[in-house]
Amino acid sequence: MNDLSTLAALQARDARHHFHPNTDMAALNAEGTRVIVRGEGVWLHDAAGRRILDGFSGLWNVAVGYGRREIADAAYQQLLELPFYNTFFRSTTMPVIELSEMLGQLAPGFSKVFFTNSGSEGNDTIIRMVRHYWKLRGQPKKSAFIARHNAYHGSTVGGASLGGMDYMHKQGDLPIPGVVHVQQPWWWGEGGDMSPSEFGLFAARQVGVAIDRLGAENVGAFIGEPIQGAGGVIMPPDNYWPEVERICRERDVLIVSDEVICGFGRTGAWFGCEHYGFKPDLMTFAKNVTSGYLPLGGVMVSDAIAEVLTAGGPFWHGFTTSGHPVCCAAGVANLRIIQREGLVERVRDDIGPYLKARWTQLGEHPLVGEARMVGLLGALELTPDKGARAKFAKFDEVGSICRDFAYQRGLILRATGGTMLTAPPYILSEGEADILVNTAREALDDTVVELKKRGWL
Ligand SMILES: Cc1ncc(COP(=O)(O)O)c(C=O)c1O
Repeated sequence: MNDLSTLAALQARDARHHFHPNTDMAALNAEGTRVIVRGEGVWLHDAAGRRILDGFSGLWNVAVGYGRREIADAAYQQLLELPFYNTFFRSTTMPVIELSEMLGQLAPGFSKVFFTNSGSEGNDTIIRMVRHYWKLRGQPKKSAFIARHNAYHGSTVGGASLGGMDYMHKQGDLPIPGVVHVQQPWWWGEGGDMSPSEFGLFAARQVGVAIDRLGAENVGAFIGEPIQGAGGVIMPPDNYWPEVERICRERDVLIVSDEVICGFGRTGAWFGCEHYGFKPDLMTFAKNVTSGYLPLGGVMVSDAIAEVLTAGGPFWHGFTTSGHPVCCAAGVANLRIIQREGLVERVRDDIGPYLKARWTQLGEHPLVGEARMVGLLGALELTPDKGARAKFAKFDEVGSICRDFAYQRGLILRATGGTMLTAPPYILSEGEADILVNTAREALDDTVVELKKRGWL
């Protein structure tokens, strides 16, 4: 389909009735939404007939790429066999048994999995589960959560409260009581004169300061993404997570690793916490458990926590579609592909290092203050002054200018403020990695011209 009048008609219909998430709809409707019609490997096709390299895997989640018949077939077969049955009434289904077992094998020490439909619901589940756990342990006051500014943990009331996005809090009278946000470990943006390792310790110790201020007897858990994704692909200094772990263990505060982005190989390890070498008590997951083919999320529960919860009577929490058999069948097929094709190892040893070598060369571009990558998760900090690690005055606009130039040139990158983000599918080839980096460089050049025109450079 490349008939532009057809495209305009589709855009008009979308504008009339579709309430887009996380979108300024007046601005969107003035420009016209993109209509994506087909995907294949790392490539998307839009209704204007363009082929675009998806440098962002949908929303960080199409790990195995588009067009995998094996996942579609597994879902189709399950739809014919048993499209739905619940997991409440002393029941389970074959895909739920199979996926739970696979997840338990992938994450040794996490003997139980609780299924949700999304990462946000996973984090709401975390709030209820942690509080229930401490009540069962006879410490009902341990109900507060420590989280980070600029973290993203979802859009539900609980998820957005744990998240540290001020602009989200303002719209819904959030956070809910009992959530305290502390310093994020973003050295490039907030490290000041400290070295990365000085800043890593400083940021980690803010967790301890917050716990001590509230009293450890009132704090249930600390939650963090191993690498903050939506906040700007923020990789903490190497000493950050070990210090957070030490602080939490010393104070008997649980550690929750939000693995919604990092889980299932994105960092080159199965889970982000393995990459950074810490052991959480609970892990939230979603996204790449199905590579986005169907919605599925959940919480992985460590043996010690599971033992207390199992002995503690019913946990009054669950969704109609907790453990939806079709989504779980898609999850099993997806994880089998990741295992059979060695995609986690590919991210760690092969395409990850290849893309990193090329991506970090973008750090030499005059507009880029830092280029960083772990696994297949990368960021570029746009700056008017590299030496000073300065941010643009119009920080929130500059990234979207670059993102739009990238799209015009056939590449999807995401922008968070003045930070450009990439998270391509694990099947990216070296040739496609070259296209990704070369197109990103051209978009940076376009951005320099535009910023000079606007007098921002
Ligand atoms: C780290 C993290 N946690 C939670 C979520 C929320 O997941 P969902 O959008 O599936 O509700 C996201 C979504 O991007 C995320 O990045």
